[in-house]
Amino acid sequence: MNRTSIRNEIVNNKLVSSVVGKFLSFHQSRVPYSPDNPFLVGPFAPVTEEVFSSDLVVHGEIPSSLNGIFLRMGPNPLEVENPANYNWFMGDGMVHGLRLKDGQALWYKNRYVGTHHIHKKLGREKIKGEPRGPVDVANTNIIGHAGKIWTITESGPFPVALDHELNSLKYGLFNSKDNYPFTAHPHVDPDTGELHAICYDALLPMQVYYQVIDQSGQVKKRVSIPVKHGPMMHDCGMTKTKMLVLDFPVTFSIERMLQGMQLPYSWNEKHPARIGVLPKNGDAQDIKWFDVDPCIIFHSFNAYDLVNGDIIFDACVHTKTFTDSIQGPVDKQLIQFERWTLQFGTQTLKREVISKIPQEFPRLDERFVGKPYRFAYSISVGNEGEPVDNINLKANNLLVHDLLKGESYKHSYGDDYFTGEVIFLPKHSESEEGDGWLISYIHALDGIKPSKVVILDSKKIGQNPQATIDLPVRVPLGFHANWVDI
Ligand SMILES: [Fe+2]
Repeated sequence: MNRTSIRNEIVNNKLVSSVVGKFLSFHQSRVPYSPDNPFLVGPFAPVTEEVFSSDLVVHGEIPSSLNGIFLRMGPNPLEVENPANYNWFMGDGMVHGLRLKDGQALWYKNRYVGTHHIHKKLGREKIKGEPRGPVDVANTNIIGHAGKIWTITESGPFPVALDHELNSLKYGLFNSKDNYPFTAHPHVDPDTGELHAICYDALLPMQVYYQVIDQSGQVKKRVSIPVKHGPMMHDCGMTKTKMLVLDFPVTFSIERMLQGMQLPYSWNEKHPARIGVLPKNGDAQDIKWFDVDPCIIFHSFNAYDLVNGDIIFDACVHTKTFTDSIQGPVDKQLIQFERWTLQFGTQTLKREVISKIPQEFPRLDERFVGKPYRFAYSISVGNEGEPVDNINLKANNLLVHDLLKGESYKHSYGDDYFTGEVIFLPKHSESEEGDGWLISYIHALDGIKPSKVVILDSKKIGQNPQATIDLPVRVPLGFHANWVDI
């Protein structure tokens, strides 16, 4: 793309964004005021201050090999005009970071992601670049890539680059000049360091995109894939040779937009569920689709190729959602850990249940992304066989699934605490799979007590933590966590 066409695309995008932004604001302003919203109180309630502390109390021994920042991203709205239609998925982003080095906890800090929207309200200078699209939000995930930290969000907004002190620097599709949407869930190829992602733009409902970002942050490949109805694609799957496109029945809804909903997506009975298999070296015509009974997957554990060419895909499968989700995920849905085998000989899908415990935030030892693996990690979000209740949260557990033995183990963080996403870090680069540290932010259910970061030894599940770091403040329940080496 030359400079003129890039400039034209940015100008066109700004015009469309401005018109759509005004349209959204108008319809949202017509929703009658109500003070009630469960995602603004208790453990969900936003914090009101940015905090820095280098005086942290540590219990136990922080592993000396952990040199970096443990990051957590989530919504923390600076102001909410009308709680009635505030949607948890749309709140201004705040990043929380815990810096560890040589066995010490150097500091904790939280910072608003410096979108123009936020910096204007805070009286701060604009960061470089411009937001992409009418919704200036960066709140979903946070990763390290090409020497920087990046907030990443689906449906259109640009990533935002942060430095290692969590200061916001610029908008952009990593280090490229391309004006493309990205996703909250790229998959990192452990052999190349490249990001592979299925991305979409809420304003372009008839296509999604397979994009590869190379190690330097440039766009290496882009494939446009035709779809219908504007499906929400939060995650994807990746094997060594293929990408899995998750085309499920939560789609863009003009009706919801006209009703003034901040997140205009809903369950769509007319949209068949299917999963597409795209060769990484292929184009849209090479994709093969497998039909699936209606359900939806927001997050996957892993996927890999079998010797016979079939594909294993492990994920948290939800029965039905976005049926009544004006303010956040309140649907009484069932969730279970399933293993899907995509069988090319018969073009059919085999579904097996690995665990009926409702669970989410699936992770693995990321050295095994796209490859056969043994250990899967997640957090419980309810009781086995019962629908999820995100409003009346109870204490939860880390779940460790040994897929070789067919056994699962639990770790409780106490009756008063809820663990957020738990990530796995190998003890050393050569450690065997499953020998590492499991680290997460722990949230008090009373919505009052400060949060903690807990580090577990993966070989000592159910025992005392390796280390607990008391944070000076509460971290609201939020979305994704990741580790960035420094
Ligand atoms: Fe996610």
